[in-house]
Amino acid sequence: MRNESERARFGLRLVHQGKVRDLYSWRDELWLVASDRISAFDCILPTPIPGKGEILTQISRGWFARLAPLCPNQVLGYDLPPEVPFRDWTGRLTRAKPCRPLPIECVVRGYLAGSAWKEYASTGRVAGVALPQGLREGDRLSEPLFTPTTKAQVGHDLPLTPSEAERLLGTALHARVSLLSLRLYEAGRQYAAERGILVADTKFEFGIRGEEMLLIDEVLTPDSSRLWPQSEYEPGGAQPSFDKQFVRDLLESLAWNKRPPAPALPDVIVAKTQAKYREALRRLFPELEKEIPLRGDLGA
Ligand SMILES: Nc1ncnc2c1ncn2[C@@H]1O[C@H](COP(=O)(O)OP(=O)(O)O)[C@@H](O)[C@H]1O
Ligand SMILES: [Mg+2]
Repeated sequence: MRNESERARFGLRLVHQGKVRDLYSWRDELWLVASDRISAFDCILPTPIPGKGEILTQISRGWFARLAPLCPNQVLGYDLPPEVPFRDWTGRLTRAKPCRPLPIECVVRGYLAGSAWKEYASTGRVAGVALPQGLREGDRLSEPLFTPTTKAQVGHDLPLTPSEAERLLGTALHARVSLLSLRLYEAGRQYAAERGILVADTKFEFGIRGEEMLLIDEVLTPDSSRLWPQSEYEPGGAQPSFDKQFVRDLLESLAWNKRPPAPALPDVIVAKTQAKYREALRRLFPELEKEIPLRGDLGA
């Protein structure tokens, strides 16, 4: 993470530390630096996954480029300027336009999973929308749903009803972001499906900059989405996911109460998880694998 005095020397100021990414301001830019940290059950694990930060950055990069015709985005570039010699950020840095993030997380769901499955199982509805009876966990929805949540500063994001979301954004902006989120999801899921990946659900964020509304944050990554291998898709239960499945399975098998500190991960789980993230990048954007620096600990 570089220490503060070293960063200050190069004009960088830490503005936010997320579970996975660190955000810096540099001149008039916002820098998103994806670390190798991994979280599960809302807890940062003590064991990093080598290369995960680079892989996540490259996956978002692929999507930003791919989806640009549908929505302008935050991206200024991915290269370190020559005057900032932090070589270890190569491949994990996104230089972005700083925006004012909209106060909602734009969740889109194409399949019944996670909290949506729980809500459906107990009420027959998802985000207030009545769904047909008899759906199973993991079933595909006939129409993708826009199910925004709050952007909690601490703790869990909470679901918003359409009228609450409208109140937060105003009617016109709400209509615009819901339509845009659904379009982005549809384009993303089609592209991913051609590569053997189901996008069960995902979360977009938008930011305002002057007159513009930009797609910000990360896009359709394993950290912001449920990505399922199509070949293993079998509705009627929880689906194996592309990334953290091994981690979740391991943690579920331990007598851990899901409160920090989380247990360390054994090497074999680290290696399998790293391989899954890498496989997601390789399937989606094989041309971007070359952006990941060659290091001994980055798998194959
Ligand atoms: N271009 C941008 N301008 C302003 N804020 C942004 C931009 N891109 C992302 N953000 C914000 O950065 C934060 C990322 O932090 P967080 O979600 O806590 O990190 P992580 O997902 O790595 O745990 C989010 O609040 C997001 O809205
Ligand atoms: Mg986040």
